[in-house]
Amino acid sequence: MRNERGVCSFVNSGLFDIQNIQIEIDCMIRIEIRKAEQFVDSSAYQKAKEGAAVALKQLRSGKGAGSEWLGWRRILSMPDEAELERIQTDAEVIRQDTDILVVCGIGGSYLGARAVIEALNGLRPDNKPEVLFTGHHMGGRDIEQLIDYLEKPRDDGEPKSVRVNVISKSGSTLETALAFRTLRQWMEQRYGEQVSERIFVTTGPEGGVLNRMVVDKGYRKYTIPEDVGGRFSVLTPVGLFPVAVAGIDIQTLFYGAASMYEKLEKSADELLQYAAFRYCMQDAGKSVDVIGSFDPELSAFTRWVQQLLGESEGKEGKGIFPVPAAYSTDLHSIGQMVQQGRRNLIETLLVVSAPTSSLKIAKGGGTSEDGLEYLDGKSFHEINYHALEGTVEAHLEGGVPVILIILERLNAQNLGELIYFYELFTAVYVYLLGVNPFDQPGVEEYKKAMYRKLGSRNND
Ligand code: PA5
Repeated sequence: MRNERGVCSFVNSGLFDIQNIQIEIDCMIRIEIRKAEQFVDSSAYQKAKEGAAVALKQLRSGKGAGSEWLGWRRILSMPDEAELERIQTDAEVIRQDTDILVVCGIGGSYLGARAVIEALNGLRPDNKPEVLFTGHHMGGRDIEQLIDYLEKPRDDGEPKSVRVNVISKSGSTLETALAFRTLRQWMEQRYGEQVSERIFVTTGPEGGVLNRMVVDKGYRKYTIPEDVGGRFSVLTPVGLFPVAVAGIDIQTLFYGAASMYEKLEKSADELLQYAAFRYCMQDAGKSVDVIGSFDPELSAFTRWVQQLLGESEGKEGKGIFPVPAAYSTDLHSIGQMVQQGRRNLIETLLVVSAPTSSLKIAKGGGTSEDGLEYLDGKSFHEINYHALEGTVEAHLEGGVPVILIILERLNAQNLGELIYFYELFTAVYVYLLGVNPFDQPGVEEYKKAMYRKLGSRNND
């Protein structure tokens, strides 16, 4: 809702002084941290805020650890309009005759696309083409079921038109490679010589198996810039191509992120405060961050945040373990633990202020057989919002610092803003921990052990 001062205010209710949570029209994200600040030591907090400002400077100077991986900032400061248009145009063509796009990737090579598509699915005019994800596990049954589903004709009896987008920067990730081999063989049988028009490879600039296949088999290629790491790659073709094929406006998403980049280059006070706060929580021994949302559309987004934070901060014995939670569903499982278990938690809730649906509770026609007449005619959004407020109140009272990340509405612009906000937040906060946010040396350990057991020659 908009008031006479030209700013937006959220649902008019008491818990977070919501009448005071007002945002400028051009700023669609707000961090509500005030109630959580009671859990932080004020002098440590002050020091951490100063440290966060230094960390941001370090990042901007390009002299911090892992500074060869800052391409996620570069792409927004100097947008490649031609590439955005190429992706959009390719996607438009594909959309005309594709029933299913199978995206094959793991970690940063699929979580971002999935997060955006699931968040904005409700805005798509139809569910066409369907975008399915594989290559992020080695469950044979799931892959078998996917192939069976691809095999099954459409309702009109025609075979489904299938395209595949394999995404791997290294080109050598086992989960993705195995699923891709299985899919490729199916695609070759189904499409014969035309298969090369139906397989899209998103990989690093050079080297690796996928680049060889692009040359040998003539697959279409999108390049992941060398200086962008997997979990920071959603605004490269890694995320943009599947998102565009899903019919989501990638220009708005991308420029939403670019507008947040510009805003945060001018002033990042809230972000620094939040980074300092999380740092203090880590320092005080909090070891779990429950990252949840009452909007099911944001479930996949919480998993993207989980990877972005977890793989960036979890090094050298440091970090807060990020756990995604889908509320109110999970209030009926881990809610007990959040309320009364070990007090080693913080909680971050992603909130969408404007309704994503207008569905209302049907009126009971004067009867009260289910005792719900007090909710007659109310919208699901309003009830869900009160559930959020009740949960925040209860968890704060239970000793859990709760932070709200509030989006004005769920659309491509705001989601783009939120993506860049989280990327920058992660980099600054992890620098503050004194850790390189951009590598993931620990991930190699399971791979080495696995390859040894599998008898691979790559197990050094
Ligand atoms: O963030 C990262 O770098 C990782 O999660 C990678 O995205 C993931 O391991 C997949 O790697 P690749 O794209 O090389 O297959």
